[in-house]
Amino acid sequence: MSFSNKVMFLLFLCTWGSKADDPLGEFCNRNTNISSGGKISANIDKLLAELALRTPSTGFVATTYGKDHDKVYALAQCRGDVSTHDCSNCIQDATKQIRERCPNQADARIWYDYCFLRYNIESFFGEVDTSFGIFYFNVENVTDPEAFNKKLGALMDHIRAQAVMPNEKGLGKGKSVLSPFVTLYALVQCTRDLSEISCAQCLAIAVNNFANFCSHRKGCRVLYSSCYVRYELYPFFFPLDSNKTEPSNVVRVSVYS
Ligand SMILES: *[C@@H]1O[C@H](CO)[C@@H](O)[C@H](O)[C@H]1NC(C)=O
Ligand SMILES: *[C@@H]1O[C@H](CO)[C@@H](O)[C@H](O)[C@H]1NC(C)=O
Ligand SMILES: *[C@@H]1O[C@H](CO)[C@@H](O)[C@H](O)[C@H]1NC(C)=O
Repeated sequence: MSFSNKVMFLLFLCTWGSKADDPLGEFCNRNTNISSGGKISANIDKLLAELALRTPSTGFVATTYGKDHDKVYALAQCRGDVSTHDCSNCIQDATKQIRERCPNQADARIWYDYCFLRYNIESFFGEVDTSFGIFYFNVENVTDPEAFNKKLGALMDHIRAQAVMPNEKGLGKGKSVLSPFVTLYALVQCTRDLSEISCAQCLAIAVNNFANFCSHRKGCRVLYSSCYVRYELYPFFFPLDSNKTEPSNVVRVSVYS
């Protein structure tokens, strides 16, 4: 994936006081407009109810509803380290917010830190999709980029290898002590419909795109439809190392390619 002039940006500072159920981002495909009273819309509602019910217990559901031209494919997944309770809350928010934000689109996606949900009238199961991405990065830079990048690269290699192991359900997470006072935390997760090779491919694209927005940053997140990659200099995955989080000045960028 080249970072070409085809790419379009939306950039804004995240404001404090955003609501708890606000997603990190959504994508409403404007080329898939549908009427709100139609059969596809009714099938989407059926699917969302099913996802809300079934996702918390397993952490992942990929399913379809309807026939022929009205068939809809849907996928919901919670991050592998979050509790059933947090998963349930996240999916509830996602099913509600996605319909508010993309009321008339057959292809819609919504991202939270704890979960991801999407649906479409075309099948996307098993396919690596990095066509739309959201990056969140801390505007602060590390003080020793060379040493930091070495540690970050090693940690990423380690958890990417973990994520593609059988039984890991696409999840890799770990930490690396940088100094007595500084620990680096990182997590990667693929959607569970992906094969190991496709998971590895999505994570490689995400990490390669670090260069565009994450270089030397104290924290960064890459959100794709097929994988999630994040690192921070504070604990953010479960079980939490401590409840200490550093409020950071984070910028969001959306990238279409
Ligand atoms: C889809 O609907 C939106 C408004 O909801 C409109 O801006 C957009 O142009 C429509 N897209 C197409 C391809 O007709
Ligand atoms: C971090 O580094 C980038 C360039 O690599 C620079 O544009 C930015 O201003 C720096 N941020 C801070 C907070 O110094
Ligand atoms: C973090 O806070 C929660 C409740 O607020 C507590 O149950 C948990 O033990 C704390 N974890 C650590 C590592 O301090």
